[in-house]
Amino acid sequence: MRIKYTISIVFFVALVIIEKENNIISRVSDKMTLKETPQTLLQQNGFSRIVLKDNVSFSSLSKMDSALTMRRLENYSKHQEVIPRGKKHILLLAATRTGSSFVGEFFNQQGDNMFFLFEPLWHVEKMLTLDTGGTNATASAKAFRDVLHQLLLCDFSFLESFIQPLPVDHITTTLFRRESSSSLCDEAVCSPFIKGVFERYHCRTRRCGPLNLTMASQSCLKKEHIAIKSVRVRQLDTLRPLTEDPRLDVRFIQLVRDPRAVLASRMVAFADMYKNWKQWATDGDETIDEDKVRKLKGNCDNIRMSAEVGLSQPPWLRQRYMLVRYEDIARFPMRKASEMFGFTGIPFTRKVRHWILRNTQASKEAGGIYSTQKKSSEQVEKWRFSLPFKIAQVVQDACGPTLKLFGYKFVNSEEMLTNKSISLIEDKVFNFS
Ligand SMILES: *[C@@H]1O[C@H](CO)[C@@H](O)[C@H](O)[C@H]1NC(C)=O
Ligand SMILES: *[C@@H]1O[C@H](CO)[C@@H](O)[C@H](O)[C@H]1NC(C)=O
Ligand SMILES: *[C@@H]1O[C@H](CO)[C@@H](O)[C@H](O)[C@H]1NC(C)=O
Ligand SMILES: *[C@@H]1O[C@H](CO)[C@@H](O)[C@H](O)[C@H]1NC(C)=O
Ligand SMILES: *[C@@H]1O[C@H](CO)[C@@H](O)[C@H](O)[C@H]1NC(C)=O
Repeated sequence: MRIKYTISIVFFVALVIIEKENNIISRVSDKMTLKETPQTLLQQNGFSRIVLKDNVSFSSLSKMDSALTMRRLENYSKHQEVIPRGKKHILLLAATRTGSSFVGEFFNQQGDNMFFLFEPLWHVEKMLTLDTGGTNATASAKAFRDVLHQLLLCDFSFLESFIQPLPVDHITTTLFRRESSSSLCDEAVCSPFIKGVFERYHCRTRRCGPLNLTMASQSCLKKEHIAIKSVRVRQLDTLRPLTEDPRLDVRFIQLVRDPRAVLASRMVAFADMYKNWKQWATDGDETIDEDKVRKLKGNCDNIRMSAEVGLSQPPWLRQRYMLVRYEDIARFPMRKASEMFGFTGIPFTRKVRHWILRNTQASKEAGGIYSTQKKSSEQVEKWRFSLPFKIAQVVQDACGPTLKLFGYKFVNSEEMLTNKSISLIEDKVFNFS
């Protein structure tokens, strides 16, 4: 009897010990792996598990999402007093090859009171890209939104968790296109140059050491305004929570361009990818890549849907949304830039004007010389002579409603496509306020 008891107790205790050990071992091993990966930072930000290129756990993203939201909400009430008066937060949203780098320069050149970031979401997209080459749109949208939200508050910590390799003590040598943000090459963000440390996207205006994101954040907080350019946000309404943060005064500028021109530009930039399309258009023996047509349609639909949300002026976007066509900026840069600054409530500085004068033919636009204006229109419609008519038709079929919404005229023949006396850009004023 007694022996039986003892045996069972010993057995039970042993079980408990084994169970505990297991727990400890797994916790220790968790910790050990955490140390080596960006998981630590992601976890601090509410990720329960990392979302890496090859190892994706998306259910955790939604957990991260609610954790972040909770903390954000807590902070709203606590930090009300720190809302800087008059500080504007600009998001320049576009698709690729719509001239967004050019338009981004308007803000990058604005001067000392502007903090400008160029494509910070590049890192987020890179890390969330799956083996298939695509991303989970829902999960990416949340990560994009939260990173942008923090960045607009001059907080780089969530972005840091997506930078590879993970920054050490907030120092990184790999921030994408650092040199395209003059704010990141400012005196205030320029740590002493270190010989022998390679920084791929190093500053060109001065010799700086690796980027210290603590310095960047401090500099950002001191600036009057902040602007971020991104080609990665697909749906405007995913950013709605940013408009609900009382610490932010967000303005969205959506930049669009004729999808036929975008495709013509892509076909030059990514010639290999579109080899098949070219053959199809010229010889007619290849079949067109349906997957690419679907993607094209998807992109057009996203752009159109975002614009429809913006133009319908829901209360959350009132006075926060502006739609700009690249074609209008290319033809009338000074007028359009002035409108954009007017919309944002940020001064249109001499520095920006000079930059525009130096980089466009706007000097003549101001003088009203008709021939020059015509010349810029020609420049902006140059694609019409490189894009095969058959492909223009494919775009029109896939993106019809988008073309219509933005006022891009359809072509019904090769002759019309290449007839210089027919403009494909309808005059169109978009209602924004
Ligand atoms: C994630 O990575 C871990 C460790 O590298 C591996 O054991 C696991 O199978 C991976 N999960 C997936 C879904 O690939
Ligand atoms: C909330 O505010 C605290 C104190 O300023 C800060 O440390 C923390 O990062 C903030 N959290 C979020 C999610 O913004
Ligand atoms: C994408 O991520 C969300 C969580 O954010 C998840 O619910 C959904 O199942 C994922 N979709 C795919 C196709 O993996
Ligand atoms: C980065 O900048 C911060 C703020 O100026 C400073 O305290 C910190 O020491 C810098 N980090 C390194 C590694 O130099
Ligand atoms: C180009 O269009 C104009 C105006 O519609 C027309 O008068 C002209 O004949 C066209 N030119 C050619 C070469 O088709």
